[in-house]
Amino acid sequence: MPSDPFIPLSEPWLAGNEAAYLADCVATNWVSSAGPYVDRFEGMVAGAVGAAHAVATASGTAALHTALMVAGVGPGDLVLTSTLTFIASANAIAYTGAEPVLVDADPATWQMDPARVAAYLAEDCAPGPDGPVEKASGRRVAAVMPVHILGHPVDMDPILAAARAHRLVVVEDATESLGARYKGRAAGTLGDLAAFSFNGNKLVTCGGGGMVVTGDGALAARARHLTTQAKSDPVESEHDALGYNYRLTNIQAAVGCAQMERLDTMVAARRRIAAAYRDAFAGVAGLAFMPAADWAEPVFWLSTVRIDREIFGADRRAVLARLAEKGIQARPLWQPLHRGAVHGGARCLGGAVAEALQDQALSLPSSGSLTDADQARVVAAVLACRA
Ligand SMILES: Cc1ncc(COP(=O)(O)O)c(C=O)c1O
Repeated sequence: MPSDPFIPLSEPWLAGNEAAYLADCVATNWVSSAGPYVDRFEGMVAGAVGAAHAVATASGTAALHTALMVAGVGPGDLVLTSTLTFIASANAIAYTGAEPVLVDADPATWQMDPARVAAYLAEDCAPGPDGPVEKASGRRVAAVMPVHILGHPVDMDPILAAARAHRLVVVEDATESLGARYKGRAAGTLGDLAAFSFNGNKLVTCGGGGMVVTGDGALAARARHLTTQAKSDPVESEHDALGYNYRLTNIQAAVGCAQMERLDTMVAARRRIAAAYRDAFAGVAGLAFMPAADWAEPVFWLSTVRIDREIFGADRRAVLARLAEKGIQARPLWQPLHRGAVHGGARCLGGAVAEALQDQALSLPSSGSLTDADQARVVAAVLACRA
C-alpha cells in the first residue's frame, strides 16, 4: 500500500503566468537586480495595499531592516515589538544596533498587546529630546514595530494613538498579512512604513523577496538608496552612506507579478480553508480555532488551532507527531523571543500569554492549493488524536 501523499504546511501555488514571465526574463536577458518586472511588482504591491510607494527587497528581513534604518532607528535605541513572532522581526532590530523591548500577546487576538505598549510608554518612559526615554536604562525608544502574525492584524488604533502621543515611528511587520484589513484599512498602510515578505511559505511568493511600503516619498527614496549600496552618482562608483545589496532580481519579481495577479484568488482560498477548519472543529471540546476580531478581515495565512490537553486528551506535541506519522506537516508557533538564546536578554513586558500559545497552538496545512480531500484528511487525523 503506498502511503498517503505528503501534505505540506504552506507551499507555493504557481498556477498562473509564473513560467511565462520567467521565460520572458530569459528571452530578454533581464535576469538580475533591475528590470521591468521589478518595477511592475512594486506597482502591483503598492496598488494592492493602497500605499503610495513600494521598494522591492531581497527578503522580508531586508525590508524590515531597511524600514527601521529609514525610520531613524540606530545603535543604542529600543524598539517595541512582539515576543510571539518569527525571530526575523527582532533580528532586524538588532541589525540596526538597537534592542527590542518585547511585548506579550493579547489573549483575545494573539497579537501584540496594545495595553502593554501604552502602559510601558506611560509608566516606564519619560519624555526626552528625541522621543521617549526608558527610565530604567536611559535609552531612547525609537519606534514601535507591531507584527501582524498569521494573517490577522494587530489592534492598531491604540498603538497608533500611543505612538502619536509619544512621538514614535510605527513600522509594521506585515510580512505574514498581505491582504489583511484592520477596520477597513489595509495592513501595511497603518503606520509610517511597513514590510512584506514573499518567502516561499507566504501567501504570495517570488521564491524569496520582500517589499518596503510607505506613504512618504522621502522615506521611500531613502529606502531605495540604502538597498542599492547608497550609490550617490549615476555614473561614478561613489557612495554616500553604508548601503546594502538588498535588491530583488527581475527573475524573482517576475514570479511575484504572476502571483500578485492572483492575489484575490489566493486570499479567498486561505479564507475558505480557515472557514472549513473552523466548521469542522466547532464543538470539539478542547480544540479552539484561532481568534478573529470583529474589526479584522484576516487572510488566515496559517490556520492555527489551540489545543487544551486536559480536555482534548492529547497535547499539541502529540498531535504534531501523529500528523507527521500520517505525512501531514503541522507547526507549533514560535518560541517566544524572550525565551530564546538570541533575544532572551531583552526586556519583556509580560510573556505568559505567548508562552501558553507556544505550548498549545498548532498551525495546520493552509496552502491555497490544499484540496478539500486533503483538508478532510487533516481534519480526520487531528480528530483521531482525541483520547
Ligand atoms: C513575522 C515575520 N517577520 C519577518 C519575516 C522575514 O521574512 P523573510 O523570510 O522574507 O526574510 C517573516 C517570514 O519569514 C515573518 O514571518
